Amino acid sequence: MVGSRVLAFGATRPAGICLLRDCLYRNHETVAFARNPSKIPADFASNPLLRDEGRTNRHRSPLPGRTQARVVVSLLGPNQIRGIQPEMYSDFYKALFSQMRAHGVRRIFAMATLSFEVPEDRFSLQRLLVVGLVRAVVPGGYQTVHRICAAFFQEEEEGIDWALFRIAGIPEGLDEKSRREDR
Ligand SMILES: NC(=O)c1ccc[n+]([C@@H]2O[C@H](COP(=O)([O-])OP(=O)(O)OC[C@H]3O[C@@H](n4cnc5c(N)ncnc54)[C@H](OP(=O)(O)O)[C@@H]3O)[C@@H](O)[C@H]2O)c1
Repeated sequence: MVGSRVLAFGATRPAGICLLRDCLYRNHETVAFARNPSKIPADFASNPLLRDEGRTNRHRSPLPGRTQARVVVSLLGPNQIRGIQPEMYSDFYKALFSQMRAHGVRRIFAMATLSFEVPEDRFSLQRLLVVGLVRAVVPGGYQTVHRICAAFFQEEEEGIDWALFRIAGIPEGLDEKSRREDR
């Protein structure tokens, strides 16, 4: 069943914590799936708009229908340097797309990175160097982003309304005061 909630993945690290703060500020009922829920800042605990749904992994994809989601926002990405399985995240998204389709949840926004280029990108030396460094030092991370993006682009005709977004960096301050000052 399509509900009204935001279903958030990867909400235990900077991008996701910023997302949760903004969702709650805008009074969106939000369900956060996390393998390490204890990383979600303690000051969220008392907010009735936030529900934490515990662990998620590639073997047990969460159900958008069970959480009555209207939209999925994902900040998932590998946060280690070694031992990355590039297909893990794209497989997760493919399974998630099926579940979304089954439950009539059509909208998903997901994080990519600067490593994924599109034809509209203008030349930037800084970007070239950063992406080159990532590719050399964390090849698994580079490949992961490309596989994720490929999985989304393959969905184009399949009834999921998706957007991939890229950010260059996330400011350090993740507390509520920083959110207010950054706005
Ligand atoms: N931070 C930045 O300045 C920046 C800049 C550009 C792009 N990005 C991209 O933005 C995204 C989020 O960045 P971030 O720095 O906020 O977070 P991050 O350190 O990349 O962590 C990603 C999130 O995904 C979760 N995650 C990773 N693998 C998982 C798995 N196998 N199962 C379940 N959860 C998993 C992590 O959970 P745990 O906390 O449990 O590990 C965490 O919540 C990433 O894709 C990153 O590449 C970040």
